[in-house]
Amino acid sequence: MTYYYKLGKIPPKRHTQFRNDNGELYHEELVSSLGFSGIYSNIYHKESPTNVKEVKESKPYGYKVLEDYGLKMTHLKTAEIGKTGSDYLDARLPLMVNSQCVISLCNPTELTMDYFFKNADGDEAIYVYEGEGELHSQFGVLPYKKGDYIVIPRTTIYQFDFDTSKEQKFLIVESKAPIETVGRYRNEVGQLLEHSPYCERDLHPPTHLLDLKEKSNGDYSMMIKKGNQLHHYVYGNHPLDVIGWDGFLYPYTFSIYDFEPITGRIHQPPPVHQTFQARGAFVICSFVPRLFDYHPLSIPAPYNHSNIDSDEVLFYTEGEFMSRKGIAQGAFTLHPGGIPHGPHPGTIEKSIGKKETKEYAVMIDTFAPLFLTENCLPYIDKEYPYSWQS
Ligand SMILES: [Fe+2]
Repeated sequence: MTYYYKLGKIPPKRHTQFRNDNGELYHEELVSSLGFSGIYSNIYHKESPTNVKEVKESKPYGYKVLEDYGLKMTHLKTAEIGKTGSDYLDARLPLMVNSQCVISLCNPTELTMDYFFKNADGDEAIYVYEGEGELHSQFGVLPYKKGDYIVIPRTTIYQFDFDTSKEQKFLIVESKAPIETVGRYRNEVGQLLEHSPYCERDLHPPTHLLDLKEKSNGDYSMMIKKGNQLHHYVYGNHPLDVIGWDGFLYPYTFSIYDFEPITGRIHQPPPVHQTFQARGAFVICSFVPRLFDYHPLSIPAPYNHSNIDSDEVLFYTEGEFMSRKGIAQGAFTLHPGGIPHGPHPGTIEKSIGKKETKEYAVMIDTFAPLFLTENCLPYIDKEYPYSWQS
């Protein structure tokens, strides 16, 4: 859920005649979510968006789940992962999955895209832990930088224009359910409330439309991800050839550096860090620098806890995470439901008296169990389940 926004030229009334200077009709396209019950936008193309020239062979684009991994607290030493593939699609490396979501890393070597991509399986939240550039879509140009979440609704057609002077490192969460701002922070008409840790000013939509020439016929490759396959379509018209659009559905960015932490006299539970929701599937939380608890006898480190009905993924991005030892930036931990977990030995006492933390981390709590993929094999820290022995 975002807010109403428009770019470019649109007719005064939807679904009515809208013509160019030569008297030709523009091509209206409704992009809607949850059937016709969710948020939507109306897009006006210069040329038809349905002009398919060729459907090429589909290719497998999935993952293999690690069989018989069992129930284990897991540390993935992905800080040392390096490049994960050649171009953007080749480099997307699924690591943890369930029926609702796919959690991947993407560190491409090739910083150009000569095709467009569309994820027809679900929404994407891309956390940029290194990098800068622009996301180009039919909704226009969306600049991004380090620390941004780029939230991309399903079926958005996009192409990254990477800043090639910078390494690009992404954490990608794909979701079957729409990725939204947090429901309990919105009022009855959808505006973010005063106690929300961010507001609409912190959500950044595309800044302007792409400046394309009036006629844009040619061969435009689009890779469409659906059902663990990549489907290769060739369109005759430029997919981003848009004169204007309006609505609530569009990609946007939110910077983790704009998340205003909620603190208290005693330790605050993880929901205060919540940033996004995917209803019935997972939450995404942002751990950011903040003042610690100020009760005279407070313990800043978290208490041991049993997350009995969720799996808890933490991705460590910057600073030192106060409750973990030996976890580097770029690494994951997974604490599955069914086993209690808590701070490492010594970290509780060490946290007492500390005034603040400089940590940044992204947490994904899923409501269905996660499975590791075979891509995790080189990075599993076999000693981690025993690392609480004092
Ligand atoms: Fe936890």
